[in-house]
Amino acid sequence: MVSTLQPPNPEVFQTETKSTVQETLLTPRFYTTDFEKTANLDLSAQEKGLQAMLTEMRTDYNRNHFVRNEEFERSWDHIVGEERQAFLDYLERSCISEFSGFLLFKELSRKLKGRSPILAEIFQLMARDEARHAGFLNKAMGDFKLSLDLGKLTKQRTYTFFPIEWVIYTVYLSEKIGYWRYILIYRHLEQHPEHRFYPIFRMFESWCQDENRHGDIFKALLRSQPQLWDTWQSRLWSRFFLLSVFATHTLTVHERSIFYDMLGLEATSFDREVIRETNATAGRAFPVMLDTDHPAFFDRLHQCSNLNLKISEINRSHQPQILKFCRKLPLVLAIFGHLLRLYLIKPIDAEALRGVVR
Ligand SMILES: [Fe+2]
Ligand SMILES: [Fe+2]
Repeated sequence: MVSTLQPPNPEVFQTETKSTVQETLLTPRFYTTDFEKTANLDLSAQEKGLQAMLTEMRTDYNRNHFVRNEEFERSWDHIVGEERQAFLDYLERSCISEFSGFLLFKELSRKLKGRSPILAEIFQLMARDEARHAGFLNKAMGDFKLSLDLGKLTKQRTYTFFPIEWVIYTVYLSEKIGYWRYILIYRHLEQHPEHRFYPIFRMFESWCQDENRHGDIFKALLRSQPQLWDTWQSRLWSRFFLLSVFATHTLTVHERSIFYDMLGLEATSFDREVIRETNATAGRAFPVMLDTDHPAFFDRLHQCSNLNLKISEINRSHQPQILKFCRKLPLVLAIFGHLLRLYLIKPIDAEALRGVVR
């Protein structure tokens, strides 16, 4: 529950605009890719599906959804201390992640114009959605007297290059995990409205439908490229990206467990439900799913998270850098050991299950 402490002196909360973010391994990155290769992708195997999705995207179901109604027009200064910080951290990472999608989709749309008309328009419409999502989150941050200077971030932050194949795997997963995160919070708050401490959570139902549609578009892209699902290499890459996305999720959720407490959610159960659902969904696109029922699966992920929390604690200490490094090294190695053993757990063959009703 949100603390009901007396609101502090209002002057404590001065609006601040941030043009840099604290970069950690878990901060969402900005991406760029091989636009030439993307323009030359043969989409014929999924052209009908992509055309249908383009028509749906043009309909723009959420055109009037992202409106700040009177519920937002009040002070939020009663949310203070660790809770305020945890919620702001959630809003900030979500905003950066949505904005990262906007930048990549916008650039793809620009570079593919005149070369791959269907993709150029689809990416333009997905960029439209992500700009709305990022803008809405940034306005929510504004309610807590903090906002991100997205223009400066665009120019100043480093972009990570991913081959288009990696972009397809990771964006598919991030859209689908985004869908599950939003919808599970929404459904939980429908059952427990007393924990809805800020109105943005009401918007999550229609919001997550945008992410679901984006995920479906990336599923069509993935299935149009047999090398992404019909080869032994694709099975290894799929395992790698599934595990990376799930491990990042576990670490992030447990780093901000205070935010989940505020929602009346238990961080570990929420994390597991999101991973189980996303893994099952991914089985419709990827050649393999991870065996989340394996007894070591969540146990090892949880151990990674505990080690990561210890690392964060060391980072916050005021010890000399060299001492911090020496203390962190065995913890980092232990995380890699767990991840390696998780990677080696035999996956579930999703291609073999295809056609079987699940
Ligand atoms: Fe989004
Ligand atoms: Fe999205």
